[in-house]
Amino acid sequence: MSKEAKTKFEIHPLLKQRWSPRAFSDKTVKKAQLQRLFEAARWSPSGMNEQPWRFIVGFKGDDTYHEIFESLVEFNRLWARFAPVLVASLGKKVYTNKQEINPSYNYDVGQAVAHLSFQAMHEGLYIHQMGGFDPARIVHRFSIPAKYKPITIFAIGHIGEPYMLHPNLKKPETAERERMEFDELVFTGKFGKPLGIF
Ligand SMILES: Cc1cc2nc3c(=O)[nH]c(=O)nc-3n(C[C@H](O)[C@H](O)[C@H](O)COP(=O)(O)O)c2cc1C
Repeated sequence: MSKEAKTKFEIHPLLKQRWSPRAFSDKTVKKAQLQRLFEAARWSPSGMNEQPWRFIVGFKGDDTYHEIFESLVEFNRLWARFAPVLVASLGKKVYTNKQEINPSYNYDVGQAVAHLSFQAMHEGLYIHQMGGFDPARIVHRFSIPAKYKPITIFAIGHIGEPYMLHPNLKKPETAERERMEFDELVFTGKFGKPLGIF
């Protein structure tokens, strides 16, 4: 199933095709694919080149997967159980060489996952990120040091079919994707004044 973005301007096909499915097939993700996904994340830019991203990867059937899955809120458990791989992303809150908060750690982790999701599309894989989980449980179960904070959990896999999903989730899976207008997003002069090139 495709839910291609209905763009006003032409963008890279992989960006256009990316979306966040909840139905994943049981097809496994290859080790070589995962190597390339995390390579893409590793080469993402970051403030002061701190590279504050860390990842904990679980494969369906193993203990890591189980622990990541158990940290999810009920809504996400309804569908994330289909994903063959679940990943917890973590951010390092402080700079390595000075005892100061790194103000961009959250931003940098998100950007690394964005790079990873672009590579995933190139591999024919999909990513679905989740904020709906219990970070304290991740900290506890994986003995995360105090300098690090769980940021998101994301599912990786091949796309499945909407019929697999819980009845409440079938409609959103096929619904049209929506975005705000450019004039609400891109400004010049002062906040809220549209750039007006769109
Ligand atoms: C930081 C973040 C947290 C999210 N949390 C959840 C979540 O807990 N459960 C869920 O089903 N989707 C979650 N999503 C997916 C968004 O709902 C989705 O990206 C958004 O609706 C846009 O849809 P698209 O990715 O298909 O373009 C999250 C996405 C991001 C980036």
